[in-house]
Amino acid sequence: MRLVLLGAPGVGKGTQGDLLAAKFQRPKISTGDILREAVRNQTPMGVQAKACMDQGKLVPDAVVIGIVKDKLAEPVCAHGFVLDGFPRTVPQAEELAAMLKAKGLQLDRVVNVTVPRDDVVRRLTGRRSCPKCQAVFHIEFAPPKRAGFCDRCGAELMQRSDDTRETVENRLTVYENQTAPLIAYYRQRGLLSDINGAGTVEHVQQRIVELLSAHGVA
Ligand code: AP5
Repeated sequence: MRLVLLGAPGVGKGTQGDLLAAKFQRPKISTGDILREAVRNQTPMGVQAKACMDQGKLVPDAVVIGIVKDKLAEPVCAHGFVLDGFPRTVPQAEELAAMLKAKGLQLDRVVNVTVPRDDVVRRLTGRRSCPKCQAVFHIEFAPPKRAGFCDRCGAELMQRSDDTRETVENRLTVYENQTAPLIAYYRQRGLLSDINGAGTVEHVQQRIVELLSAHGVA
């Protein structure tokens, strides 16, 4: 299974990617998670990325392409992967196709998750993340058992620095300008399937699993 989850910030790519990775025993590669870890560890890449991420801008293509190239070379990716948040530009998509082609491979499917803009803003501004184990919650839709604390490890939950209303608006504009063109790019190549991301996490998951099964991917 070589899968890309595409969609605007907050449509649920990370949530669905974790579930798919667990269900199909394939690694999830999230460029956002890898960049946030680099920011936490204050690596040179993290320092460079932080300024872009805090403004809701994309990190330069060369940086994220390098991340994905290294990840795909790991043995754990030999039998497939779920990509979350990559590619995000046409040059990234072209590089991904070239990386796979060099191994005689191609993507199986690109799942484009769609959610109305107002719902996405509500999902992002209400998201809370665990700084220790990276578990993700939502104050309204997926609240932790003890308000403000992680169910998994007990750490105090935090709001991502790019989940403020202003940065969310910037991220949505950047998505429209730089990432949405990938919808046409993958549709032209017969790889794209649209999925309604509204409804419960379980319903969305069911839709994706049924779609993959219909395409013989899972
Ligand atoms: P990244 O981390 O990839 O952020 P994103 O694409 O903006 O996506 P999010 O993580 O915000 O949302 P999601 O769709 O994963 O939703 P989630 O499942 O968490 O990237 C961050 C930054 O890194 C970028 O802005 C950029 O600077 C940089 N970057 C990353 N990749 C890059 C690349 N390839 N090129 C260049 N720069 C890159 O869900 C959101 C909330 O909703 C959660 O609270 C969740 O609990 C809740 N939720 C999920 N599903 C449902 C549901 N069905 N109903 C109700 N609530 C739900």
